Amino acid sequence: MSMRLSRSIVGEAEAEAVRRVIVDDGYLGMGETTRRFEGEIALYLGVEPWQITSVNSGTAALHLAVQAVRTDAARSGVLDKMDGPPRILVPSLTFVSTFQAITAGGCQPVACDVLTETGTLDLEDAAKRLSPNVVAVMHVDYASNPWKIDKVYEFARERGLRVIDDAAHAFGCRSRGRKIGSFGDLVCFSFDGIKNITCGEGGCVVSFREEDSRLIGDARLLGVEGDTAKRFAGERSWDPDVKNQGWRYHLSNIMAAVGSVQLKRLEKEFIPARRRLWEVYKRNLDQDRGIRLLRTDPEDYIVPHIMPVRILDGWRKKVADALDKAAIPYGTHYKPNHLLTYFGGGEISLPNTEKLYGELITLPLHPGLTDEDVEFVCETIKNVLN
Ligand SMILES: Cc1ncc(COP(=O)(O)O)c(C=O)c1O
Repeated sequence: MSMRLSRSIVGEAEAEAVRRVIVDDGYLGMGETTRRFEGEIALYLGVEPWQITSVNSGTAALHLAVQAVRTDAARSGVLDKMDGPPRILVPSLTFVSTFQAITAGGCQPVACDVLTETGTLDLEDAAKRLSPNVVAVMHVDYASNPWKIDKVYEFARERGLRVIDDAAHAFGCRSRGRKIGSFGDLVCFSFDGIKNITCGEGGCVVSFREEDSRLIGDARLLGVEGDTAKRFAGERSWDPDVKNQGWRYHLSNIMAAVGSVQLKRLEKEFIPARRRLWEVYKRNLDQDRGIRLLRTDPEDYIVPHIMPVRILDGWRKKVADALDKAAIPYGTHYKPNHLLTYFGGGEISLPNTEKLYGELITLPLHPGLTDEDVEFVCETIKNVLN
């Protein structure tokens, strides 16, 4: 089979879990299997089950987190004093869903520059973009890198801002010994097809305030108050009240069944495989002429979801051509959002992000690859650069 850039690693166990939901239970929507999956995530992260709200995508998780932050600002009266929409500081180098979630949640993204060595938010640049309308700062664990996330929380605390951690890439990662999702304010994971674990499509928000959890839990079920408890008990809300805007974002039993099996495979199978391949990349490419791996903190524990590397000195095209010739797939994570028409079309310039965009190339990484596959990718690149 030809090499893939990324792929789902699913099989008989996931199929059997889905079969049980379909054939044995016959209850496909959000119910007991979803409740159990939320409990398993909570246990894995070391938080309480009420803190986990599963949803049907990482984008939905981000959208609901943004909505919770906006609601918080409205309730505290901050919004009334603002001229224009509330704003959220966010690194431009991220999947477009981060930006779309911000606008969907009634806020305005303030695109910030990133650090060239890591691709993560540059707090110095973010500080320059502060204004009275800024209510939150978004951290993106770019390429599974929590890079100095404590500094982001410190930055926010000093300025009275909320923090949303877009941890779509970072399930299983740790910052200085603490699992991402075990601390913070609002942490959003994605369980889409190619993430560190998958539900097919899915995600969750980890909340650290009960009020956020309640709001997000209702908002995933069209704003129907208390509907989560009803569904988990196999009941329906026939006389509901709705006080807020909600969405149809809940995670079905089918998707939760897949996620539940994946979670069991994470520590034993997926994490060792991803980290082993990452080591092969590092061993072969680190310190090599013309190439830089993104910097990580040795005290953090990275479970790499993607493998972007920097090709220096304008050699990216030559490397891409060689990969094409060798039938090795590659990608670009990401076209910076401030260059997209809907988000300003390059009205502002973010020098580090743009420089990085010209250098980044994402190499194949998923647990279905062998060490030899990765060595072949590295050799192909080295042959060009040396
Ligand atoms: C950085 C980042 N944020 C958010 C998302 C959105 O997650 P999903 O695809 O589950 O909606 C992704 C997904 O690829 C992502 O990479």
